[in-house]
Amino acid sequence: MQAIILVGGEGTRLRPLTCNTPKPMVPIANRPFLERMMTHLKSHGITDIILAMCYLPDRIQNYFGDGSDLGLKITYVMEPLPLGTAGAIKNIADQVELTDSVLVFNGDVLTDVDLGAMLDFHVERHSMATIALTPVEDPTPYGVVQRDAEGRVQRFIEKPGWDAITSNLINAGIYVIEPSVLRYAPPHLHFMFESGLFPVLLQVGEPVYGYPTNAYWIDIGTPQRYLAVHHDLLMGQIRMQFQGEARGNNVWVGADSIIDPTAKITGPVVIGNNCTIGRNARLTGPVVMGDGCTVGADCVLEDVVLWQGAEIHNQVMLKTCVIADHTNIGDNSWITNGAIIGDCVTVGSGNRLEHGIKIWPHRTIEPSTITF
Ligand code: GTP
Repeated sequence: MQAIILVGGEGTRLRPLTCNTPKPMVPIANRPFLERMMTHLKSHGITDIILAMCYLPDRIQNYFGDGSDLGLKITYVMEPLPLGTAGAIKNIADQVELTDSVLVFNGDVLTDVDLGAMLDFHVERHSMATIALTPVEDPTPYGVVQRDAEGRVQRFIEKPGWDAITSNLINAGIYVIEPSVLRYAPPHLHFMFESGLFPVLLQVGEPVYGYPTNAYWIDIGTPQRYLAVHHDLLMGQIRMQFQGEARGNNVWVGADSIIDPTAKITGPVVIGNNCTIGRNARLTGPVVMGDGCTVGADCVLEDVVLWQGAEIHNQVMLKTCVIADHTNIGDNSWITNGAIIGDCVTVGSGNRLEHGIKIWPHRTIEPSTITF
């Protein structure tokens, strides 16, 4: 079976983390998100993967190559301009033979949905398009799907107001489609599933079904959800393997990392390769440190994701924040409360970055400049 993963979006809501890194390549516990996703597909026996690419494609292609290192066959299909989710699949069908029912994924969805059961559901109902549906507490930012008693879709409501909500099941961005439905998508034009192809299929009377699932599901599309994924993952809500030596008490330590004996590490904590943790530093999970990070003396880290090569000086407090590649954080700084620091940022000593502040890549904040 073929699986198509949509990886062409710019990921604007996840900026500044996606300024230099396409959303599918942002690390999830030190591995690109897309690698985690493909590993899930492989565990279901799906090894023939097609990537629909547009934004920063080289970063993706250079990392995965032909896929053989992961035991996969990866085909890359480029769009000259973003064609939207359904337009991207139409573009693929023009260039690659789609043999049978095809699985389609948004490239920002982390889930352990049972793909075999979803495919059986699709086949049993002779569905032309089946949409995985997941319950959420607040469906207003999403697309709600209304179904009849047999599960056949009657209506889509995009970003409904509270008065229009009749269901808390939203489109999970995972589909099984029959390639023949692509005849309803216009060639070379921007066309979306939710607002374009699916409503057309309903109009012409093609069978479209919703497959409700209570499996773990989250999309990593905003900084808050990116942090939430790490929280869930490290707290064991979804099973995944971490790299490094398991030291017990939910602490994993990568090769050649040095932890000062006075440092206190309380799991779940994942430490990459070649990291250094200084005197009396206190790490309280969930914490992830990418390869080559340094944490100085008397630092406090809690609910933090550090990408690679971060240099955290002494007496720094990092709490509920994300620090991207090769940042440098000066002594006595506090970065807390949803702050997101882009690649190669230098934060001088004594700054307080809080309240969801976002710092774009390559900025320098002079010492004691931001002290809310
Ligand atoms: P935002 O800019 O934050 O909305 O993120 P996004 O650009 O990724 O858009 P969205 O989250 O709505 O996209 C859902 C999935 O579809 C993501 O995996 C995107 O990479 C993918 N996607 C969105 N638009 C396109 C497109 O035009 N072409 C391709 N190939 N993929 C797309």
